[in-house]
Amino acid sequence: MKLSAAALLALCAPSLAFGLVGNDWSFKTAPADGLNDITFPFNMAKAPTTSGFYFAQQFNFHNVTDVGYTGLQPRPNANGKNVVHAAFSSFQAGTTTRHKNCYQGADGGPGVSCAIEVPGNYRHTYNIEVKNIGGTTWRGTMTDTVKNKSIVIGEWTLPAGAGKLVNGQVGFVEYYIWNGQPSHTCDSLPKTEAIFYNPTSKTKGASGGAVTKVYEYGDCIGKAGYKLKKVSNGYDIKVGF
Ligand SMILES: *[C@@H]1O[C@H](CO)[C@@H](O)[C@H](O)[C@H]1NC(C)=O
Ligand SMILES: *[C@@H]1O[C@H](CO)[C@@H](O)[C@H](O)[C@H]1NC(C)=O
Repeated sequence: MKLSAAALLALCAPSLAFGLVGNDWSFKTAPADGLNDITFPFNMAKAPTTSGFYFAQQFNFHNVTDVGYTGLQPRPNANGKNVVHAAFSSFQAGTTTRHKNCYQGADGGPGVSCAIEVPGNYRHTYNIEVKNIGGTTWRGTMTDTVKNKSIVIGEWTLPAGAGKLVNGQVGFVEYYIWNGQPSHTCDSLPKTEAIFYNPTSKTKGASGGAVTKVYEYGDCIGKAGYKLKKVSNGYDIKVGF
C-alpha cells in the first residue's frame, strides 16, 4: 500500500499533487510480455453534475518509463442531459498523435492528451478500453454499457520499442481544482462519489482483474470525508462534504 502510493506519487507528482484516494488494480494472471487491452469500468451515478473531480485509472507499458491515464470527469448538465468528459492521455515523451480528439502535451509536460465531452447518463456504467491497434499505437474507447454504444476518445503512438501493457498499476480520485490554487482547506472539498469496477481484458492468458486495494493519500488523509464501500465487482468511493 505504501509502496503503491509512493510509486504513484513518484510517477505522476505534478498532476497528482491533490489526489485524494488511490487504488491498486491488477490481474491474477497475465502474459509475461503484457496485455494487449484492458477495460476499466466507472460509474458516476452518485456524482454531482459539476466540474472538479477526475476518476482515473493509470497504466504503463513495458520498456518505456512513463504512464498513461484514462477516466471520467463530471460536468454540468447541458440541455437537460448529463455530460460525460472522458480522457485518455500518455505522459511518455515521444508519444505522437494525428487523432482529431488529441493534442501534444499532457498536464504541461511531454505526452499526448485526448478527450471527448458527450451527452450521457450517469446512471449508466461506462467502460474505457485501452487497446493496442497495431505496432505501438493505442486507442482509448468509451462504451456506454447500457446502450452498448462506443465512441473513440483518441489514439496515440508510443516511441518505438514500447511494449504491451504492464499487469498492475494504480488509479485515483483527484480534485484538480486545487492544483491551480495557492492553498486549500480539506473541509472545503465538495462531495462526490464514484464506483471503480474491476478491470477486464480480452488478452489470452489474462484473468482475474480486480481493484485490489483502495486507500487515502495526499495532504487530506482522515480529513476529506472519505468513505469506502465494497460493491459487487468493485468499490464505491466517496469523498467531500
Ligand atoms: C454491442 O455492440 C457491438 C458492436 O458495436 C456488437 O458486436 C455486440 O454484439 C453488442 N453487444 C450486445 C450485448 O448487444
Ligand atoms: C523490452 O526490451 C528488451 C530489449 O530491448 C526485449 O528483449 C524485451 O522483449 C522487451 N520487453 C517487452 C515486454 O517488450
